[in-house]
Amino acid sequence: MILKKINRITAITAFVFITLSCEHGISGNKQSAFDNSKKSASKKETLLPIPPLLKGRRNKKGDILFSLTVQKGESEFFNNMKNSTYGYNGPLLGPTIRARRGQLVRIKVKNTLREYTTVHWHGMLVPGIMDGGPHQVIQPDGEWNVYFRINQPAATTWYHPHGIGTTAVQVYMGLAGLFILDDEVSDRLNIPKDYGKNDIPLIVQDKSFTSYGVLIYLRSMRDVMEGMKGDTILVNGVVSPVLNVTASKYRFRLLNGSNAKIYNFRLSNDRPFYQIASDAGFLEKPVKMNNLRLSPGERAEIIIDFSGYKEKDYLYLASDNYFMLKFKVGQKIKDTTEIPAKLTNIMRIPKEMSSRSRIFNLSGMGHNVNINGRKMDMNYINEYVKYKNVETWVISSNTGGMMGMMRTSGVFHNFHAHGIHFQVIERSKSAVPENEKGWKDTIFLDRGETVKVITRFLYKGIFMYHCHILEHEDNGMMGQFKVE
Ligand code: C2O
Ligand code: CU
Ligand code: CU
Repeated sequence: MILKKINRITAITAFVFITLSCEHGISGNKQSAFDNSKKSASKKETLLPIPPLLKGRRNKKGDILFSLTVQKGESEFFNNMKNSTYGYNGPLLGPTIRARRGQLVRIKVKNTLREYTTVHWHGMLVPGIMDGGPHQVIQPDGEWNVYFRINQPAATTWYHPHGIGTTAVQVYMGLAGLFILDDEVSDRLNIPKDYGKNDIPLIVQDKSFTSYGVLIYLRSMRDVMEGMKGDTILVNGVVSPVLNVTASKYRFRLLNGSNAKIYNFRLSNDRPFYQIASDAGFLEKPVKMNNLRLSPGERAEIIIDFSGYKEKDYLYLASDNYFMLKFKVGQKIKDTTEIPAKLTNIMRIPKEMSSRSRIFNLSGMGHNVNINGRKMDMNYINEYVKYKNVETWVISSNTGGMMGMMRTSGVFHNFHAHGIHFQVIERSKSAVPENEKGWKDTIFLDRGETVKVITRFLYKGIFMYHCHILEHEDNGMMGQFKVE
């Protein structure tokens, strides 16, 4: 039975080879070997671009108004080959939005694409109607005016589209940006915080290219099964960038903005760094690490101390053996920032407060992925939750065992929920690691693993929960819960 299904998927996906650039197609640049052209192109050094901070207009009350335009543009990744891409206020990715706890934020979103989109604030606690999930569609030429008051700790969150069946390709085309939140705690901490100087956002995404440098999406059955995995890793939209650093401390805000790839971040010399924040805010204390796993949608803030290096030293940010970003060390400077022993207090939600538990089983393969045996249905609310209640959610990945033997070795899931932050209380395959003891909104599941989280529902409305492997999400591995 299952074998039959796999064959059907193969048959369907054999034809799925989507080229995202037609206009400039294959031009006179004839290099035949698969990666000759790409390798030579990546030798010239491109400085790491920093997404600009979005300027807002402030009124007397301190409210702030931002505007975002979803647009089509052109981007070059290799060989001066122009590709059609999407971006917010530009051809690729989006500006960084920044706001403070307590502030009322208004955002005007204009969609100039010829297809519909939505803008979801991943990691933000806002009412369901402001969440930007699949219910808040922005039609072509349409506009969406959203407002919410920020009431959550300082964090690195992000925004991206969330249309039914279109999320994966729109994110892949370039729709993603950061949304940074500040509060008294982030003000008080003496950590690097000069945006673009020693506080550097890193949007990490992988993409696939033809030998001519043309961006492509979905090449194989594997891309459908495991989610789209590219052959090239981009940081802030650029291949193999370089960052010149002084010999001092730097804070990096890492976002795994990939469709499906799981990163194991490390330094090329395997020296340690410090993780100071997870998805939804600071950890209680810095966690010294050599290796940091981030699945799609997850964020982490880390501090790398370059003060032990000499001028002209260089090293890389890597994931496994892929070197994605080069650090070139310059002069020593007087560095007054520190890695504080203590960052913040995190109130643990007492287990006794949990009013009930719910089970979320992620299973199926390819086009049959589902949660609890059901696929996403816009007209069906899967779970009803009581406002302000505390619940325990027990989330399992059923990939593994028999399934694991069937060429699904690269199939992983994770779990993300809108409108809530949670605390991990148990992992079935390991102890809860130190860097997962802060607030989270997205959690990695090992194959066959069960993860137990505790959460509370502080905002009303309809929210999504789903696997953040975007091809799985688009194939229906998603559900809705209503808080009322
Ligand atoms: Cu990052 Cu439901 O999304
Ligand atoms: Cu989200
Ligand atoms: Cu999945």
